[in-house]
Amino acid sequence: MNQTYVADLSEKVGEEVTLKGWLYNSRSSGKLVFLQLRDGTGIVQCVVFKGNVSENVFEQAAAAGQESSIIVHGKVKEDARSPIGVEIDVTDVEVVQNASDYPITPKEHGTEFLMDNRHLWIRSRKQHAVLRIRHTVIKATRDFFDDNGFILADTPIFTPAACEGTTTLFEVDYFDDNKAYLTQSGQLYNEATAAAFGKSYAFGPTFRAEKSKTRRHLTEFWMVEPEMAYAHLDDVMDLGENLILSIVSRVLDERKEELETLERDVSVLEAIASPFPRIHYDKAVEMLKEGHQKGELENEFEWGGDFGAPDETYLSQQFGKPVFVHHFPAAIKAFYFERDPDRPELALGVDLLAPEGYGEIIGGGERATDLDYLEKQIEEHGLPKESFEWYLDLRRYGSVPHAGFGMGIERCTAWMAGIEHIRETIPFPRMLYRLRP
Ligand code: 4AD
Ligand code: MG
Repeated sequence: MNQTYVADLSEKVGEEVTLKGWLYNSRSSGKLVFLQLRDGTGIVQCVVFKGNVSENVFEQAAAAGQESSIIVHGKVKEDARSPIGVEIDVTDVEVVQNASDYPITPKEHGTEFLMDNRHLWIRSRKQHAVLRIRHTVIKATRDFFDDNGFILADTPIFTPAACEGTTTLFEVDYFDDNKAYLTQSGQLYNEATAAAFGKSYAFGPTFRAEKSKTRRHLTEFWMVEPEMAYAHLDDVMDLGENLILSIVSRVLDERKEELETLERDVSVLEAIASPFPRIHYDKAVEMLKEGHQKGELENEFEWGGDFGAPDETYLSQQFGKPVFVHHFPAAIKAFYFERDPDRPELALGVDLLAPEGYGEIIGGGERATDLDYLEKQIEEHGLPKESFEWYLDLRRYGSVPHAGFGMGIERCTAWMAGIEHIRETIPFPRMLYRLRP
């Protein structure tokens, strides 16, 4: 293919190249037209001098509207003022399609408008930067597990029953009057694949029908879920910590420009280092009570409750790095958790809270191994036992201590990118009030 990408231009100084892309912006002054060409890898200024091209080409270039598709031929020239160090001396321009009235102009637009035009908004500089960071978060995540002996074993999206609780399921018709549910988590299946492979992970979309309208909730989000056989709560925290360290360092290494575009304060990411504090739920409650006494938290937190967003924010602010909270009350956790043998009212669950108010990015823990206990739990949680028979088989045939977690890709990306709302971290977000485009 006869095409040079903007990202490769700095190695092509003095060469004739062909660039294929879209017109990000343009201006003209007398005998010159300045075309900002974007091709997905970057943006470069292409200078059309009237004397260097035919009159027809000059007029077309001058008249091309924002986001017209264009092909530019020209010579790569060093330019100290350019953010990428080069610009193009144009010899020819082809306007593939002339666009007019592009809806997203350089002026300010409201979020709703931009979200309605999400299919176009993703071409903008900041959105583009966020999604490139997402790419790196995913790549770093996959590499981390692949390099540490985990087998990718993806789990089904149509499932016959709940995993995280029954109130947050999307129901779908599944032939002959049967119902299926969109998965909330691949975890139960991961427990099966971990018993098959020792260490496994699933990575895919998951669905939550909770009617939360917060900056941290999507109804469809991507989750990576590792699971390890012969592993305990501490192993989960070690794994989560190493995963996060590896993501942070990859993003800092590979996405400098994007972080700059987003005006991300990278010093807070650079400060992320081992060890992450690991605090008991009891201790977290103590800290939250203190926060309330100091007037920094509106509501007084009671032992036994689940953290709200302000609680998570408060806790994470006390450390300036990610913090694990473990040993939650079993009563607020899913049916499958192992209990603390010394204090059976506690579940061996753990959350990782990201700093800067990004909240929970990892949730996981150690799974119950005992058949009788799980049968009772399934009954007490009002879950249909027949749907879980296969899961109980894992306790009948070679039950072992095992543990794992789930990390939400979008929450992690929002934190890396330093953006306010999770909706910008996925190309096409699905939320309580948004199913389009
Ligand atoms: O804490 P959660 O619900 O845990 C589970 O689903 C476990 N079964 C995972 C496991 O142990 N294999 O979800 C895990 C993570 C959260 O920490 C958060 O990062 C993300 O998934 N998450 C969401 N992200 C965006 N929107 C939502 N509505 C989310 N709910 C959870
Ligand atoms: Mg959770």
